[in-house]
Amino acid sequence: MPAPVWLLKSLHLLLLSLHFVAVQLLLGGLLVAFVWSLLGRLRRDENCRAASGELAGYLPVVVTYVVNLGVPPLLFTQVLYGVALYTSTILIGAYWISVIFLLIAMYYMLYAATRRLANGRTWWFLALASLLIVLGIAKIYSTTMTLMLRPEVWQDMYRANAHGTLAPPHDPTLLPRWTFMVCAALTVAGSALVVLSQRRIFSVQLRDFFAARGGLLALVGAPLWIATGFWVWHTQPAAVVHQVAQHALYPAIGLAWLVCAALLGVFGLLALARKSRLPVALAVGVALVAILADAAAVIFRDGIRDMTLTGKGFNLWNQPLEINLQVLIIFGVLLVIGLAVIGWLVAVMARAKPVTEVTHEQG
Ligand code: HEM
Repeated sequence: MPAPVWLLKSLHLLLLSLHFVAVQLLLGGLLVAFVWSLLGRLRRDENCRAASGELAGYLPVVVTYVVNLGVPPLLFTQVLYGVALYTSTILIGAYWISVIFLLIAMYYMLYAATRRLANGRTWWFLALASLLIVLGIAKIYSTTMTLMLRPEVWQDMYRANAHGTLAPPHDPTLLPRWTFMVCAALTVAGSALVVLSQRRIFSVQLRDFFAARGGLLALVGAPLWIATGFWVWHTQPAAVVHQVAQHALYPAIGLAWLVCAALLGVFGLLALARKSRLPVALAVGVALVAILADAAAVIFRDGIRDMTLTGKGFNLWNQPLEINLQVLIIFGVLLVIGLAVIGWLVAVMARAKPVTEVTHEQG
């Protein structure tokens, strides 16, 4: 290890939490954009049409966050769990490498959708295709991250097929894991719509629409997210459940996740009732609680992984340490600069006015 495990792990968990938030915003945002754009067309509903149009503008930006917040945790996972991750990605290499092309196709479709929108043409089918691709990419990630925990099937898989085109044998934890992420997307994207309803650049009607629909989505998503959390937990092997439950940290983290997820449901109910008249502090609270919920889920998930791998003879904390101070300092400085630039970009976006408004002012 080029740095102490606790340091690599902390950075990994921080950045992976942000990646998860971005993935959920994309997944949930695409689902909502697809449904609203279709309803806007079928029912000639002006609110659905306007709201889906606004979302279409945000989605390509969200993709950049998904990718840029995915690369650093990938590097950390490779350093921390290289033996397991490389083997797993090689065994399903064809699917793993296909993520790059799927991602490019999805990104292209999102830009094509905004172009069609600008020309007043239908674009719901592009949102649907992008959504299916993102669900597929999520499935490939979940498959890779579960296969890396199963050294017992690696040799047989490789013997059966060395071309990376074979799907791993059935794993009872895979479907719950993927569903967990999908339900998280409903909750987090719903919460994000509530936050979006606070932007004064939108008409009051649109703000109310965002708050009510976002609130409803969070209200429905939170119990589903909690239920899938328990599903994930109950499909783990008994030894892993026992070790995680006995650990000094993970039970408290699990409880924190449960409380945060439930709070998001309650905030959703409030937003549904009060619409955009929600106090700003509450909207900020929603954003913070959503990030905390993901951070707790990521830490708990990490516990499950460490306990599973320890039971199979790979103890992360026993790896030999050879500190590379130069690289660590350069990484630390770049990380701080990078996060500051991202914060600045978000602030600029938050202050930005729609093009139409600027043109009116100039006119
Ligand atoms: C639309 C694109 C993407 C989607 C939908 C997506 C989705 C996901 C999901 C669902 C997981 C959790 C899997 C599980 O544990 O069950 C995950 C984990 C992860 N993703 Fe992404 N992802 C995307 C793009 C990326 C990209 C481009 C990168 C990096 C280049 C990346 C890096 C990672 C890493 C490093 C992890 C977890 C590593 C670990 O377990 O420590 N993701 N992603």
